[in-house]
Amino acid sequence: MGIKIVDTALRDGHQSLFATRMTTKEILEVLSDMDNAGYYALEVWGGATFDACLRFLNEDPWERLRLIRKACKKTKLQMLFRGQNILGYKHYPDDIVDKFVEKSLINGIDIIRVFDALNDIRNLEAAVTATKRYGGHCQVAFCYTTSPIHTVDYFVEMAKKIEAMGADSICIKDMSGVLLPEDAYQLVSQLKANTKLPIELHSHCTAGAAHVTYMKAIEAGVDIIDTALSPLSSGTSQPPSETFQYMLQGTKYDPELNLEHLKIAAEKIKKIRDKYLANGLLNPKALSVNPNILQYQVPGGMLSNLMSQLKNQGAIDRYEEVLREVPLVRADLGYPPLVTPLSQMVGTQAVMNVLTGERYKLVPEEIKDYLRGHYGASPGLIDSALRKKIINEDKVIDYRPANDLAPQFEHLKAKYRDLIKTDEDVLSIALFENVAVNFLENKYQPKTEDKTEVFEINLHV
Ligand code: CO
Repeated sequence: MGIKIVDTALRDGHQSLFATRMTTKEILEVLSDMDNAGYYALEVWGGATFDACLRFLNEDPWERLRLIRKACKKTKLQMLFRGQNILGYKHYPDDIVDKFVEKSLINGIDIIRVFDALNDIRNLEAAVTATKRYGGHCQVAFCYTTSPIHTVDYFVEMAKKIEAMGADSICIKDMSGVLLPEDAYQLVSQLKANTKLPIELHSHCTAGAAHVTYMKAIEAGVDIIDTALSPLSSGTSQPPSETFQYMLQGTKYDPELNLEHLKIAAEKIKKIRDKYLANGLLNPKALSVNPNILQYQVPGGMLSNLMSQLKNQGAIDRYEEVLREVPLVRADLGYPPLVTPLSQMVGTQAVMNVLTGERYKLVPEEIKDYLRGHYGASPGLIDSALRKKIINEDKVIDYRPANDLAPQFEHLKAKYRDLIKTDEDVLSIALFENVAVNFLENKYQPKTEDKTEVFEINLHV
């Protein structure tokens, strides 16, 4: 049997290339062709899509999921789920995690890919338990990164724990595209030798190595690869789906995708991609190869964030300097993998260190919380003098952070009873309170006086 392919264009593709701004209408235009192409699954939800819907697109992310499910009849749907962070940027209580998993599955998701930014397995427990309870396929991903801590043995030990937790499959999540071909061969071989679970590889083309890395992983026995339909592939995104079909066709690895359907879908997505290229949301820089990633270990999404942060500060000329500061901050913090929310936190700290001219003169509250143990255990040790400089004698916890969080669902449901109509609304509020409340007020209680205001202003003109 050939290898399986998960197409990520409709989640990671546009998240990596143009800040997750594809609309539901645009997604629906290509969905039936992708549904007919023979993919193992389509990753279409989770990650930053939920936040982007509410915050930028004025769309209900739950409605998007239901529409996708309706249009996608044959192929499994996958979402990316950040463990105890769900789709947000902090830890949520267990009852919210549980309800979110339940509602994701009810509204159409088949496979939940769950990971923790620190690879702290305690932060996955609630999501894994819920996914199993509600009958979903539970894939646990570990964040691949390189550091003195993150050896093949480290990942094999983690894989054994993932298997023991009851996961259905394991994903190597190489969010920065730093996994090199020979390392992938070793890692996949060792994972296959030490666990029975299917192994999936997720990487990014940022450094230009992913195509070859995928081929070596395939030779080592990887079961599933993540690729993106060509117009939303490459650069900071995944390798192109069609290319892998052409490369593997007729071999024992043949994924058996239907190239005719892929061609039709690609034609449509190309027009959409070109629109974002023309309006500037897709920065051509995101499409080029950046081998320096192998030195800096910065994921694609973080690069575009850093660029826009520096642009806003009028300091785009400090870009290379900030990139050099990132690995130094990361080492100071015990080598956290650079993935949401740690990538933003480390990135912001690096920007502050460079722009203020003094390291850790300004420290975001999130970094302080990290040092207090509120995100989980750091992979490596943190220098105690640095910790003290930043958080003084603040208490540092060594247990699962969510143990401290009281249930919230019923409380939020009662608090917003006049606004919400569904449990899904409560979950949107639980994750992004102000943004979701704004969105729901517009949705359910649209203000009519807006028109009058415009009219009055016109009178003055
Ligand atoms: Co990714």
